[in-house]
Amino acid sequence: MTPRSTVTDEPDTSVSLTAASGTIRPSPETSTANWTYNEQFPGPELRVQEGDVLSVELTNDLREETTIHWHGIPVPNPVDGVPNVTQDPIASGETFTYTFRAEPAGTYFYHSHVGLQLDRGLLGPLIVEEPNPHVEYDREYVVVVDDYLPGEPRLPSDGGMGGGGGMGGGGGMMGDVRPPYEGHLINGRLPDDPQTFDVTEGQRVRFRFVNASSATVFGVRIAGHEMTVTHADGQPVEPVDADSFVFGAGERYDAVVEATNPGKWFVQADALDGNEPPARAVVEYGSAGDSGTPQPPSSSSNRLQYGDLRAVSALDGVSGRPDRTFDLTLSRGRDEYVWTIDGQAYPDADPLQIRPGEHVRIRMTNQSPVVHPMHLHGHFFQVGNAIKDTVIVPGHRGQVTLDFHADNPGRWLFHCHNLYHLDAGMARVIKYVE
Ligand code: C2O
Ligand code: CU
Repeated sequence: MTPRSTVTDEPDTSVSLTAASGTIRPSPETSTANWTYNEQFPGPELRVQEGDVLSVELTNDLREETTIHWHGIPVPNPVDGVPNVTQDPIASGETFTYTFRAEPAGTYFYHSHVGLQLDRGLLGPLIVEEPNPHVEYDREYVVVVDDYLPGEPRLPSDGGMGGGGGMGGGGGMMGDVRPPYEGHLINGRLPDDPQTFDVTEGQRVRFRFVNASSATVFGVRIAGHEMTVTHADGQPVEPVDADSFVFGAGERYDAVVEATNPGKWFVQADALDGNEPPARAVVEYGSAGDSGTPQPPSSSSNRLQYGDLRAVSALDGVSGRPDRTFDLTLSRGRDEYVWTIDGQAYPDADPLQIRPGEHVRIRMTNQSPVVHPMHLHGHFFQVGNAIKDTVIVPGHRGQVTLDFHADNPGRWLFHCHNLYHLDAGMARVIKYVE
């Protein structure tokens, strides 16, 4: 098996992105300094057809290095965007072009993979449209959910812990500290200026939810409506009804909603690990008129579980017994703000070595009290009956097992998608060896 070759075909879609500092307006009264792609936040939606060659020229107008990672897409290794693993970081003033074939179809996002830049706003949605969706719908909306941090993100170990710094304590996140988020955003907007999703009675509306936050697990509901979850991390699942789902940083769900209940209704994402007010948008029927305030969701009685997810088609190469198994412990350093995998904090950590073609199993045990949304670059994995690229490992000895087929040679990061945990060491390189 040879490395997935760099794509040299003429691109079907070419895009230029410029990363620069700028100003965002999450509500009419609020403006804050942020970093943006093309002066937009979230960054521009990239939308292509499955199989298209996408070429993105990134210009770095920041004062520091940057990269972009195409979260979830199994791209060729040299364009995966991990600094010092798959590429040299792009220096200030420089340009780098990422070219890859956009497949498989799905709901993805792109983001900086340098330091804490994701929590400064360097993120945007990436939609790869399927030629023949397995579910029918009449229209769609992309819903990017994010935690809102005005100002510069800092690790607690950089003076952020306790008073005086970047990180406030508490926030209900036992055993961890939480950045001083001032709220949560849907498509870059605070709940006092929510986006409206127009619908017409009788329509089937597909929502593509992306958790692009840096440190927040959200519970998502749409008031007055049941959701039919159709895709997990972009990959089709047998449609399953739920009135809410929970997703961690880096996860995505698509859901189809039947517009059968006229009115104005909140789409709401509650932070499960913080005390900040929820993110909100509004579903509004054409018939609703100007009057009335949107209704909030009632409490959830049918929350989606991973066990409810059944991938429409199986992942190749992962049946039977694995060729190689890693047992990994996720935990926190005792005295410092350090997060480890098997006691090692990246980059001072041994690569996990695998061979091309292997069926690889990773068993994780979480010895810390907080959840870790673990993300694998370059591959999908099977977890239960679902195919995903990011999976929450619950706290307090929670265990998750994932299986993947080593079909994309290179060096790939495997890490917690809580940005602060990642930056404080919770990552490993998975390295193909012959
Ligand atoms: Cu979305 Cu390594 O990350
Ligand atoms: Cu973590």
